[in-house]
Amino acid sequence: MPAAVEFEPHRRLWLLTGPSTSYAVRLAADDGVRHVHWGEPVTLDQAAELADRDERTPHPAASSFEHGVGPEELPVEGGPRFGPAALRVRFADGTRAVEWRHTGARVEAESLRIDLADRHYPLAVALHYRLAGDVLERWTEVTNHGTTPIAVLRCDSAAWTVPAGPRHRLSHLVGAWSSEFRLQRADLPTAETVLTSRRGVTSHHANPWLAIDDGTAGEEHGEVFSAALAWSGSWRITVHRDPSGRAGFTGGFGHEGLSWTLAPGETLETPVFAGLHTRSGFGGASRSWHRYVRDEILPETRETRPVLYNSWEATGFDVDEAGQLALAARAAGLGAELFVMDDGWFGARTSERAGLGDWTPNPHRFPRGLAPLAAEVRRLGMRFGLWLEPEMVNPDSDLYRTHPDWVLHMPHRRRTEMRHQLVLNLGRPDVAAWTHQWLDALVGDLGLDFLKWDANRPFTEAGWPGHPDPDRVHLAHTRAVYQIMDRLRADHPGLRIESCAGGGGRADLGILRRTDQVWPSDNTDAVDRIAIQHGFGQLFPARVMGAWVTDSPNVTTGRVIPLRFRFHVAMAGVLGLGGNLTAWTTEELKEAAGLVAAYKVVRPVVQHGTAYRVSGGGTLTGVHYVLGADQVILAWCPSRPYGHTPGPLRLTAVDPQGVYRDLDTGATHSGAALLTSGLPLDLPAGDHASVLVRLTRIDDSE
Ligand code: DGJ
Repeated sequence: MPAAVEFEPHRRLWLLTGPSTSYAVRLAADDGVRHVHWGEPVTLDQAAELADRDERTPHPAASSFEHGVGPEELPVEGGPRFGPAALRVRFADGTRAVEWRHTGARVEAESLRIDLADRHYPLAVALHYRLAGDVLERWTEVTNHGTTPIAVLRCDSAAWTVPAGPRHRLSHLVGAWSSEFRLQRADLPTAETVLTSRRGVTSHHANPWLAIDDGTAGEEHGEVFSAALAWSGSWRITVHRDPSGRAGFTGGFGHEGLSWTLAPGETLETPVFAGLHTRSGFGGASRSWHRYVRDEILPETRETRPVLYNSWEATGFDVDEAGQLALAARAAGLGAELFVMDDGWFGARTSERAGLGDWTPNPHRFPRGLAPLAAEVRRLGMRFGLWLEPEMVNPDSDLYRTHPDWVLHMPHRRRTEMRHQLVLNLGRPDVAAWTHQWLDALVGDLGLDFLKWDANRPFTEAGWPGHPDPDRVHLAHTRAVYQIMDRLRADHPGLRIESCAGGGGRADLGILRRTDQVWPSDNTDAVDRIAIQHGFGQLFPARVMGAWVTDSPNVTTGRVIPLRFRFHVAMAGVLGLGGNLTAWTTEELKEAAGLVAAYKVVRPVVQHGTAYRVSGGGTLTGVHYVLGADQVILAWCPSRPYGHTPGPLRLTAVDPQGVYRDLDTGATHSGAALLTSGLPLDLPAGDHASVLVRLTRIDDSE
């Protein structure tokens, strides 16, 4: 069912309805846009009933201290509003509040635009809504129609309201370098809870995704509201719950304290803040997000991602032609389809101390340039890609010696170095043009198939000396990254991009509009990776989740893990190889080649199927992918405390009436048995046990 937008003029009520969701808003007497409904589909009459209830609800209530205006779609600073403001502006005469005047609305197929203006000042605001399946995209535009600047102190994409109740629970993602995407689920306090990045990138520490439930939802049941911001720079989401149980959240780009001076005639448009509602629990929410990412976000929607090899953990900065050729030969022998040379190939980049910004091959390491390596990689049957860090510069580089003013900096302030590097100000058109130019030439000259686009430090001293509105750098830099990627893709249609920021520091719906996969973490320890992938998969589908098999003991954790377990964990996403293959034994190479081949068999189901998270007793967890009649189960049991046998692993996504055959053992299982007593698992004894099971449905009723 295509989405529809209806209007009820008497109540000035709009209703957006998708396949299993409705969203309704209305104009209040003061012309503010009030929230009416977010949940299952309702008719226009039912929405009208809900609107009337809201109209009758006493806001303000009992005392002069309890004044309020009810749930709004973009609460402004001003009037009797004391919660987090989604729009804060200051006019030239010092007035800060906004008072609304409705000026129009436009309904198009699946979208709605509500136009508002300030009652006195020349500020226009448009609230945008677009239903993409059951995901509602929302964003805001503010325009200065006057002749003097207006300071925009905060402009969120949207404010969302969830039903009031005795309890709310907040799910969100936290982490750090090497431990990204760890899922936190806890009661939402009666307070304002801020999720934010002040780092200029999405960040390892928090991700602009959240889910709210009433404390009773589970993996496959219960009402869940979830939202994600499509932005790759600093951001802020404020979640609030008041003592009477009303709750919601507002979010957008930029962290607190930044401002944007809106020039006469100028419009500021926010990124999309997307939201969804489901009664199918956290798993249902994830599957809706995965569908949305696949159908609405990714630039290449149907492609199957290749098995890549990446040189980083094998060589560090120590790359040269002979070494890369040796790795390439091994990688091709294992079945890799894409060879990516990581850091260390350019300028004086023999360590993290120098060379960033000088994007020409190191003449000692690659005396013949990169073309012979690229040609040999292709002769071996693989595509060729390179690591780059286009937004950064080492002070010890020709680029910085020539253009010390190109970096983010502030007069009279130190330039804080992290990993011996500074951030280029891509908000500057000249710096962005230079960046695009060298990237375009490099991609064109070598016919590059793949870029790993890295960014290894946050912003500090994020100034723009000489610019009249220096805070703009936060928005302008991220937008420039987007524009450069978009142009590269348009001009080089075969080019694919991996988003990386020291691992998972830049994973969001904004970057995924122009990239194909994400590097979720520099932590490649398969045991740690289970939790990282669990958090990552709340929002992102397997087809964008890069996952390498690397050496054992693991370079970061020192943990020793069998090859099979490492593979089974990495097979849950886009499989890659990242170890020093020249040191692998003949037996390891043979086993690895077999596992790569096994991945290629299940890859269509993993990358294009629907994912159901499953868990058994103890540490047993897994993912069950379904594509038509084909099913793939990857399950991992990292440890077996007290020697207890883990299980059962109940498969929630099977039809109880169906019959399923295990393609490797030939055993058949009824759907009813898989659902109730679970999948019989042939888990090896001891720690680090894992299985890959392939089932196909064999009854005709499918
Ligand atoms: C950080 C990335 O996450 C690593 O995979 C690697 O590319 C290094 N940067 C290279 O400096």
